[in-house]
Amino acid sequence: MKDKTFLMIPGPTPVPERVLLEIAKHPMGHRSTEFSNILKSVYTDLKYVFQTKNDVILYTASGTGVMDSALSNMINEGDKVLSLVIGNFSRRLAKIAQGLGADVEIIEVEAGKAINPQVLKERLDKDVNKEIKFVTLIHNETSTGVTNDVKTLVSIIKEHGAISIVDGVTSVGAIECKMDEWGIDVLFSGSQKGFMLPPGLSFLAASEKAWEAHKKCKRPDFYFNWTTNRKSVLENSTAFTPAVSLISGLKVALEMIKEEGIENIVARHTKIAKALRNAIRAIGLKLFVEDDTIASTSITAILPPEGISVPDIRKVLKNDYDIVVANGQNELKDKIFRMGTLGFVSERDAITAIGSLEAALYKLGYKFELGSGVAALIKELNK
Ligand SMILES: Cc1ncc(COP(=O)(O)O)c(C=O)c1O
Repeated sequence: MKDKTFLMIPGPTPVPERVLLEIAKHPMGHRSTEFSNILKSVYTDLKYVFQTKNDVILYTASGTGVMDSALSNMINEGDKVLSLVIGNFSRRLAKIAQGLGADVEIIEVEAGKAINPQVLKERLDKDVNKEIKFVTLIHNETSTGVTNDVKTLVSIIKEHGAISIVDGVTSVGAIECKMDEWGIDVLFSGSQKGFMLPPGLSFLAASEKAWEAHKKCKRPDFYFNWTTNRKSVLENSTAFTPAVSLISGLKVALEMIKEEGIENIVARHTKIAKALRNAIRAIGLKLFVEDDTIASTSITAILPPEGISVPDIRKVLKNDYDIVVANGQNELKDKIFRMGTLGFVSERDAITAIGSLEAALYKLGYKFELGSGVAALIKELNK
């Protein structure tokens, strides 16, 4: 039997039926009062998820669109930017900054590692003339399954005085991320991750300090322009024709997020990811990120066992069990596979996934104690 596909990739993620039903309705006029009321509710609830008092701008664009927005609204040619790179997506921020003509310095660590706050502190301490204006960093690196200690990193950036630009695409709404309390200057995310929606929307909030930098930006992008877009937020409107159906779905998704509560959502992700990691270890597979203190709770990267390939594991999971897991990216292609436990994910999903992974490995001839992963998973889930 087919058509029971379970997306276990780090986005797009599964979408709840309540949200799907809302999206399926006839699109409404984007200048209608009815839609304006939906936007009013969405703009308020986005602040709750971002844990901020700042206005949250909404774009009809993918995560990369909002990455562009984060940088092109502040950076001028020649500005000094420090980019903290721990994988593909944090590297993309550096590339965008380079494209804007910034003077980009990169601190890069090996894939599977996080930024050491001490290294950042030493670099910023050396910048006595305060030449570094912006620091780009990622909260959760989707390509490797590593979570940076953003709270500490941002506090160091704040002490120096630079503006922090944080990619929260696979953290906001899943991993603890407190924009105002931690002092993040620019934070952005995308709909197809913790927000339990299909791809197509993205969100960005900026601090007062970031807005000051925006005012000095000589050539902000037209579509992504913060000033134009915030004006619309304040009017419960949008600057251009938005993805109305997705926004109607977003209203419902945000209601679900509020019903569960952000702390409970974070706890659910933590519990499921921890149990999943225990299961992987019990099966005898290696985790790409061994260090539990930096391991993501929304994405788990796993090495295949000796003699069994990543494409084979993915193929059996997909063909026999309708479960889609992600391959590694670039140099990690076919070296790791990644399981997303992000957004609309439950304990049952983890049990299904680990049971299916065991079945796939068994079929592929891997020798291990059948049931060991499921047992470890269930024990951890019931602690
Ligand atoms: C952390 C992170 N940032 C940015 C992006 C880019 O988002 P999109 O693919 O929606 O453009 C992704 C996509 O997976 C991501 O995981």
